[in-house]
Amino acid sequence: MTTLSARPVPAAWPSVPRELPRTMSAVVFDAFGPPDVLRVDTVDVPEVGPGEVLVRVAAVCVGRFLDVSLRAGRHPVMPELPHVLGVEHAGTVVAVGPGVETGVSEIDVGQHVAVWPVLGCGNCEACLSGSKEACPTLRIDGVHSRGAYAEYTAVGADAVWSLPDDLDPATAAGVALAGPVAMNQLRQAGLRTGDWVLVAGAASALGSTTAELARHLGARVIGTSRAAWKRERLLAMGLEAALDPTAEGFVDEVRALTGGAGVAVAVDDLGDPDIFARLTDVLAPQGVLVSSGAFLGGTVPLNLARLYTLNQRILGVRTGNDASALALWAEVARGFRPVVDRAFPLAEAAEAHRFLEADDNMGRIVLITGQA
Ligand SMILES: NC(=O)c1ccc[n+]([C@@H]2O[C@H](COP(=O)([O-])OP(=O)(O)OC[C@H]3O[C@@H](n4cnc5c(N)ncnc54)[C@H](OP(=O)(O)O)[C@@H]3O)[C@@H](O)[C@H]2O)c1
Ligand SMILES: [Zn+2]
Repeated sequence: MTTLSARPVPAAWPSVPRELPRTMSAVVFDAFGPPDVLRVDTVDVPEVGPGEVLVRVAAVCVGRFLDVSLRAGRHPVMPELPHVLGVEHAGTVVAVGPGVETGVSEIDVGQHVAVWPVLGCGNCEACLSGSKEACPTLRIDGVHSRGAYAEYTAVGADAVWSLPDDLDPATAAGVALAGPVAMNQLRQAGLRTGDWVLVAGAASALGSTTAELARHLGARVIGTSRAAWKRERLLAMGLEAALDPTAEGFVDEVRALTGGAGVAVAVDDLGDPDIFARLTDVLAPQGVLVSSGAFLGGTVPLNLARLYTLNQRILGVRTGNDASALALWAEVARGFRPVVDRAFPLAEAAEAHRFLEADDNMGRIVLITGQA
């Protein structure tokens, strides 16, 4: 197992309460702003609608865009306030709503689940062809509606994945959304064993997942970070090299590492113009550059003559889909694990946001509810 824990991450799954409470603790905010806007409050336990399950949350991830940018008012979706953040999470099913088949799908009370609440409409061409990531009306629990910085969530039964017994809540939460996204990135890019892959921001929540998954799948992975201590940690994970993407010799170093050829796949979730330009410089002929995020701006320079003469592709991957999720969980069964950095108690969500915004994380940050 390659999980690197800077602090022990608690492993307890919540039990099924004898009687469901009517209210619960949640972290809410009433105005967009700095981490201080996050406060603990008592709110109603959500009702379980048709096709939904009620999950008693064990661990919920903190992400840069869906959590931090949303809280700060920099996300394109502005949910109704007060809002409860929290998308990727894991917990114990404590109730099932009408219409949820329990026996066949293995979703039943007491089951430990990972929740990936990215919901396609189910009816459009994209959804019907298995590419819900391209659904024009994609909705995300925790963005469009209240999320999992709370003791309980009501989520669609098709958003939960039954877990093997040996998975702890932080690991399960850490892979719930980023795992299917990373798998989709690598599959859409046509990754093959032995390929050189470069992941920009490889210490980030998503970047570390992609880098570790690519390594697990047999690729030779180069990761980038501006911080020397994170580069050391990336090397300790087993990456071939860890480089500073802002350093002068970056392009030459990647070329030297790859025997002059460049990388077959480059993954950029940052959208920084300078780093993006450098990635295009080190992309091999016929290479694929994948983009799944742009929180550093997203307007980038592009040398089209280079792109077409080298037969390269730039590929947007918005999120995962059912096929990438299935493939991801198969790799979890074969031993793939996300890089989990540390856990904060749910009540310290503001501290966890500050920690992430200071770029102090190496991998996933989770909030844990600590309920027995
Ligand atoms: N499409 C999806 O489903 C999805 C899912 C998750 C995340 N994302 C995207 O992935 C990106 C990262 O999110 P995350 O949650 O993984 O973030 P994170 O853990 O907070 O990491 C952010 C990374 O950004 C890098 N960074 C920060 N400021 C920088 C700067 N000025 N120049 C260069 N690098 C800088 C840091 O790298 P250093 O190591 O150099 O400090 C850090 O590793 C976001 O754009 C997000 O939208 C997309
Ligand atoms: Zn749809």
